[in-house]
Amino acid sequence: MSSTATYSEHTRSILNLQLPTDPRWVDLASISIGDILTDHAFCEQKAATTCISIIQWYSEKEEIVKALAPIVTEEWGHFRLVLNEIHKRGLTLGRRRKDIYVNELFEFIQKGGGEEGRMLDRLLSMALVEARSCERFKRLSEGLNDEYLRNFYRRFMESEAGHYTLFLELAELYIPKEKVRKRLEEWLEHEANIMKNMEVRGDRIH
Ligand SMILES: [Fe+2]
Ligand SMILES: [Fe+2]
Repeated sequence: MSSTATYSEHTRSILNLQLPTDPRWVDLASISIGDILTDHAFCEQKAATTCISIIQWYSEKEEIVKALAPIVTEEWGHFRLVLNEIHKRGLTLGRRRKDIYVNELFEFIQKGGGEEGRMLDRLLSMALVEARSCERFKRLSEGLNDEYLRNFYRRFMESEAGHYTLFLELAELYIPKEKVRKRLEEWLEHEANIMKNMEVRGDRIH
């Protein structure tokens, strides 16, 4: 497998995001890396627990169960990697912060209507979190001064890009492609609006 080909494919996928991260963010993040690591650790935890929830909600959709079972392990592995970095620096995990970005993003999941629409929204909301996380990790992998951390974040970037693709593929497996693409456009617009209105702060991944 050519990693260059995979990378450019992923980069194109990430470009689906309508609003690139404010370039000031990575500079702010680099001076509060302890806070970034703590926030990142909780993001990975949330990714793992949300995948578990999706497996519980859609336990009869065998492809979802099969695909997401290993992702739970992978996200938990990410949590442990970040936790290790926190401990290596003599820090502790600390308190969980309010995740404004994810809370606002998930508000777009339709509450009424059909079960299919809700499942689509749940999968697309995860795809979007993965895409934005991937984009932020890319920024860190390019913009941090510390070479070790640049490489550290490059690995996360690659992994989350794969997850973005996976959630889209799962949606298209159960729901007509046309419908998925149309709704994805709405999600991308919603995500860009959240980003536009969010304060740029260096102690958060999003
Ligand atoms: Fe992750
Ligand atoms: Fe992920």
